[in-house]
Amino acid sequence: MKTTKRAMMTNSSTRLDRRPSLSKISYTIFTVVFLFLFVCVWFSITEVQFEVLKKLSVPMYSFTSSNTSLIEENSTQITPPDMRILLGVSTLPNSYNRRHFLRLVYGIQSPKGAQVDLKFIFCNLTNDDQRVLIALEIMRYDDIIILNCEENMNRGKTYTYFSSLPEMFNNTEEQNGKYPPYDFVVKADDDTYFRLESLVESLKPLPKEDLYYGFVIPCSSMDPFKHYMSGMGFLVSWDIVEWIRTAAIAREHLVGPEDRVFGDWMRRGKRGQNRFNAKWSMYNYPQPPSPCAHDLVPDTIAVHLLKNDEKWIKTLKFFNVTDNLKPSKLYRLS
Ligand SMILES: *[C@@H]1O[C@H](CO)[C@@H](O)[C@H](O)[C@H]1NC(C)=O
Ligand SMILES: *[C@@H]1O[C@H](CO)[C@@H](O)[C@H](O)[C@H]1NC(C)=O
Ligand SMILES: *[C@@H]1O[C@H](CO)[C@@H](O)[C@H](O)[C@H]1NC(C)=O
Ligand SMILES: *[C@@H]1O[C@H](CO)[C@@H](O)[C@H](O)[C@H]1NC(C)=O
Ligand SMILES: *[C@@H]1O[C@H](CO)[C@@H](O)[C@H](O)[C@H]1NC(C)=O
Repeated sequence: MKTTKRAMMTNSSTRLDRRPSLSKISYTIFTVVFLFLFVCVWFSITEVQFEVLKKLSVPMYSFTSSNTSLIEENSTQITPPDMRILLGVSTLPNSYNRRHFLRLVYGIQSPKGAQVDLKFIFCNLTNDDQRVLIALEIMRYDDIIILNCEENMNRGKTYTYFSSLPEMFNNTEEQNGKYPPYDFVVKADDDTYFRLESLVESLKPLPKEDLYYGFVIPCSSMDPFKHYMSGMGFLVSWDIVEWIRTAAIAREHLVGPEDRVFGDWMRRGKRGQNRFNAKWSMYNYPQPPSPCAHDLVPDTIAVHLLKNDEKWIKTLKFFNVTDNLKPSKLYRLS
């Protein structure tokens, strides 16, 4: 009995002893199994996530790349444009308002089949205010060329402009390294309004070599070989720009009215054999009357001598420049 009791006690005690150890084991087993399951589940989830990511990322990637390639295919179809024009507007560093205005006037024009880059041209800056304000303009618009010259009338700014271009645009990012960077280069006054669509249309049938284009002087002449093209705005093909860079004829003859001097180079160098007289699509504003002036007409490439706001506004009105303003609840102009 005693033994039995003892045994029972031992038994019970062993049972009692055993019980926690059993639960410990099962706990451990449970933990291990749980951990195993957890790891399995975690892996499968992660794998699913990877799969999902993979599935997502693969199509996303190909989606993007196919989109990009579509865009590229499309842009190679649209660009390169048939024609690239550098529209250099000769101005002065301090003409902030005029530049602002011309950015508007040219910024809203997008001629078909051509890329027209507007650049403002002036000589070295002369004070510290300019160095701040013009740096801001360049940061915002990047449409300024500062030539290595002192601002001058009739002492070679035009020469510096044309002769600097080949090196300025040699291997630059500007045209994706294309050379020549432009088919045509314009030198325009800042009181001239070019209608880019008309300009481009007029250039389409013309050769891209040895071209000298503009409004021939004297005003009464219609012969493009008569004297020279007016400084209101003339255009040459890139090969002529290259020629000016190295030609002694140009380098040694700088002084005089810029447009006439340019005409002298062409004549002496026998350049610009392809000439185009854009008269009377180019002309001076009708007021004040002069032999170079003309009424505003629909078939216009450029109007010159826009010396004040009133003349600009009348001109822009005549050409219905703001007709395409998009309607909006945000404004009423009438
Ligand atoms: C990519 O293509 C889709 C469908 O053709 C189009 O909706 C989406 O705007 C395009 N994305 C870009 C960045 O062009
Ligand atoms: C290029 O884009 C134009 C419109 O922007 C579209 O009509 C034309 O189908 C596109 N061409 C290709 C090859 O995607
Ligand atoms: C224009 O500025 C540059 C750089 O400051 C200077 O080297 C050059 O001599 C200046 N040119 C003239 C004509 O003043
Ligand atoms: C343009 O760069 C090339 C190579 O760097 C050089 O050979 C050539 O003379 C440069 N042309 C001009 C106009 O600077
Ligand atoms: C401007 O618009 C008016 C009215 O729609 C039209 O009669 C005129 O011919 C247009 N002018 C030009 C230059 O297109």
